[in-house]
Amino acid sequence: MKVKVPENVKSIVPYPPGKPMDELEREYGVTNAIKLASNENAWGASPKAIDAIRDTLAELHRYPDGSNFYLVQAIAKKLGFSPDEVVIGNGSDEIIEFLVKAFVQTGDEVITSHPSFLMYQKVVQVRGGVNKVLPLKEMSHDLDQILETITDRTRLIFLDNPNNPTATVIKPVDLYAFLSTVPEHVIVVLDEAYIDFVDYDLQVDIYSLIKNSKDRCGVVSLRTFSKAYGLAGIRVGYGLMSAEVAGYLHRVRSPFNVNKLAQVAALAALQDVDFYKKTLQGTAEGMEWLQEVIQSSGCFCYPSQTNFFLVDVGGDATALYEAMLYKGVIIRSMKAYGYSNVIRITVGTMEENKRLVLALADCLHELSYEPGRK
Ligand SMILES: Cc1ncc(COP(=O)(O)O)c(C=O)c1O
Repeated sequence: MKVKVPENVKSIVPYPPGKPMDELEREYGVTNAIKLASNENAWGASPKAIDAIRDTLAELHRYPDGSNFYLVQAIAKKLGFSPDEVVIGNGSDEIIEFLVKAFVQTGDEVITSHPSFLMYQKVVQVRGGVNKVLPLKEMSHDLDQILETITDRTRLIFLDNPNNPTATVIKPVDLYAFLSTVPEHVIVVLDEAYIDFVDYDLQVDIYSLIKNSKDRCGVVSLRTFSKAYGLAGIRVGYGLMSAEVAGYLHRVRSPFNVNKLAQVAALAALQDVDFYKKTLQGTAEGMEWLQEVIQSSGCFCYPSQTNFFLVDVGGDATALYEAMLYKGVIIRSMKAYGYSNVIRITVGTMEENKRLVLALADCLHELSYEPGRK
């Protein structure tokens, strides 16, 4: 084979997926593995979503509704937007792709932070765009530095808010000030994948930010059904934006980008208030319990506005990750992100949290780590 591969594609580092549970059980000879590594919903999917999927199975020979009509209507109504300001994606990942496809040409610049969600930079690289990657400041997006980096060639700024993996949010007052300074030719993408877990007083008014963009930059909000709504496996997310920006995204999306099952599942999940509340309550309780217990072992737990949090374990994070695999517990090492002693843990059910805590204590002991508070 003598295919010519463009340099920008050759140099892409593939996205590192969390280890699948059945692979772990096979490789490490463990049973009942638990995965607290990918910020998924520990309580499964909404039962109403599962029923909706079942009810739709007989229609699989039909193409999905290419306009995502009912889901768009439901989201627009719930959040007060007009349907032409909502775009549905095959996961919010896909909306990231639409944005880059629609607005970034070879040589155009996109500003992101490191560490933050890895997909932004990858998609920009595929497109031949230029990634301007700025380090976080005190675990948060460095808005001053971002402002200084904007040029005439800047097309997009991606801010995951909360940020993955640090679980920090930008203070609304800082974000409003920032957005009022960003030039009009730039679109700021607020990736709000974890918005449901954020304290109410730290949430920005996304409605007015999108509606009132006269004389300043455009704003797009990305949301997902993968976290609080428990539908990571079926892939569905959405973006809120001006009708003008949405119009461009529709030009680059394929006609049936969201499958039939995803559409009905998301619609049902949106209406399943009990499941949503159970998830938020379980996450808050689990977060509090885990942080308290883990802190008491001497590890430093970073505060979190999400369903996951970082822990400084006082020794090599990847060795700890490996040791945890032998206990059947999958977490993430943050070493590749530049935090060599830090792991990331997703809050699980109480049963899972208890197993995690026991495994962590065993591993810290086996590895002779002596985590001290920062
Ligand atoms: C910050 C952030 N944005 C987007 C996503 C992707 O969400 P989706 O499953 O909707 O593609 C994730 C997934 O972990 C994430 O952490």
